[in-house]
Amino acid sequence: MTPTPVPVHNSPTMSTETSSLPIGVFDSGVGGLTVLRALKRALPAENFLYLGDTARLPYGTKSGATVARYALQTTRVLVDIGVKMLVVACNTASSVAMPGLAEAYPGLPCTGVIEPGAAAACACAPRGRIAVIATGGTVRGAAYQGAILRRRPEATIATRPAQLFVSLAEEGWIDGQVVTDIARRYLDPLMAEFPEGGPDCLVLGCTHFPVLAQAIQGVLPQGVCLIDSAETTARWVAEELGVRKLLRPDGDGTGTVRFFATDDPERFARVGEIFLGEPLSASDVNLVDL
Ligand code: DGL
Repeated sequence: MTPTPVPVHNSPTMSTETSSLPIGVFDSGVGGLTVLRALKRALPAENFLYLGDTARLPYGTKSGATVARYALQTTRVLVDIGVKMLVVACNTASSVAMPGLAEAYPGLPCTGVIEPGAAAACACAPRGRIAVIATGGTVRGAAYQGAILRRRPEATIATRPAQLFVSLAEEGWIDGQVVTDIARRYLDPLMAEFPEGGPDCLVLGCTHFPVLAQAIQGVLPQGVCLIDSAETTARWVAEELGVRKLLRPDGDGTGTVRFFATDDPERFARVGEIFLGEPLSASDVNLVDL
């Protein structure tokens, strides 16, 4: 798939020192570690700062105005430390906070996960039939619909909030009867909106959903492809840094990550491992106050 341009809010003047800075990634909690994981794979030479606003999770049940305010506060922490680019890994924040971030930080390249996810969905929808599950906040914000319709005005789109998946993933309940029952409850009515074979694809429009991918796939009609925006976002960030000549100049494949959380580093590390897919220790996680 050829990436279309990411809506990046930019500064034309980036110095060589800028390219040595880390990439800032933030999420409402640990779910965005699925995005960090993809970023690390795509950009092994880069350094990252990851901030999980665990004290205020979930964002998905809160109003757009509140989430937009939280996003400005978390970004402030990362910008104060120093970052060359911001990745809003949280779908809910991506759906409501991008204009405010662009206004507050006009010099900072910044991308969310909605545009890359929408582009990936359109590329996997030959009949233009696209289903989206996300948090209540993301569904209400209708950002996926907007991003899909800009690319495919003829698309048929149906969306549904699936907030309980967030709790299941946080508990590490990623398979078994309970998960299947909840998946059916959410997805059967959504699939019914696409008579004659279901949608072409289902967008996992929330950081937590990729860890439940197997269970979700198991209750879908044959042939529905799952869209995880993490991989697409990582490819777009890599391309964007390349175009802007912001790739780390002395990068040799040994990039590092500094983790920050707004609550309990121990829980962040324990639950975060599920999403990051590698061991995490509480001593690696710095507690920050916003
Ligand atoms: N990170 C959120 C998202 O991707 C899910 C968790 C939450 O509700 O805060 O929408």
